[in-house]
Amino acid sequence: MQEIRSADLTGEAAYKLLCGIVVPRPVAWVSTRSVTGVSNLAPFSCFTFVSHTPPMLGISIGRRPNGLKDTARNIHETREFVVHISDETLLDLLHRSGAEFPPEVSEADMLGLELVPSKLVEPLRVAKAPIAMECRLHRVIDFGNNQFFVGEVDLFHIRKGLGIDNKIDAGRLRPVARLGGPNYSTLGQIIGMPPQPEQSSSENTAQKSAVSWG
Ligand SMILES: Cc1cc2nc3c(=O)[nH]c(=O)nc-3n(C[C@H](O)[C@H](O)[C@H](O)COP(=O)(O)O)c2cc1C
Repeated sequence: MQEIRSADLTGEAAYKLLCGIVVPRPVAWVSTRSVTGVSNLAPFSCFTFVSHTPPMLGISIGRRPNGLKDTARNIHETREFVVHISDETLLDLLHRSGAEFPPEVSEADMLGLELVPSKLVEPLRVAKAPIAMECRLHRVIDFGNNQFFVGEVDLFHIRKGLGIDNKIDAGRLRPVARLGGPNYSTLGQIIGMPPQPEQSSSENTAQKSAVSWG
């Protein structure tokens, strides 16, 4: 085994290492709006959900040498954003939206991506994305050079036919994931396993009444 001490790594080397180790990562395709009304769209793969009751998502955004990324600045200023999940058909656009566009330029306009109004928040949503989640900022936590944005989901948009009873069929969703470097993956084989045996603690029962994963 090779041993690497974190203390011996530059920031860039640690970034590369982590991006290759924490794989595959789901990608949040985040739409925001500046205070002057410019739409912004960018992908972020340091992404997960952090709570289900209420539903909350977390996205870690790094800083640029000259300040905040447009997404981070817009969320700080407007406290609203929309997180999309991209499918395979949108991968090229998702990837290209990660280029550094100036703040006054809308990535969606540049890429010819149709945006439509959201229902509860100002930032627009990507019409073709199979899933869009309208979020309000809950809190921002600093971790080193990154800021972790936690948003509460107010509204889920789910394309018809993707799931039944709140269960999303991953095979139909066909999400894309980020690997190290400019590499992505699709789902590959889906391996079904038997459900875990029932647990009887009251805490577990309480959770089950709120969410059923079947
Ligand atoms: C698939 C993908 C995932 C990315 N994930 C992150 C991430 O988790 N955090 C981050 O700060 N930047 C990430 N980036 C880089 C940002 O998307 C990039 O800096 C972008 O220009 C930010 O745009 P903005 O200034 O419009 O917010 C990612 C890029 C790609 C293509």
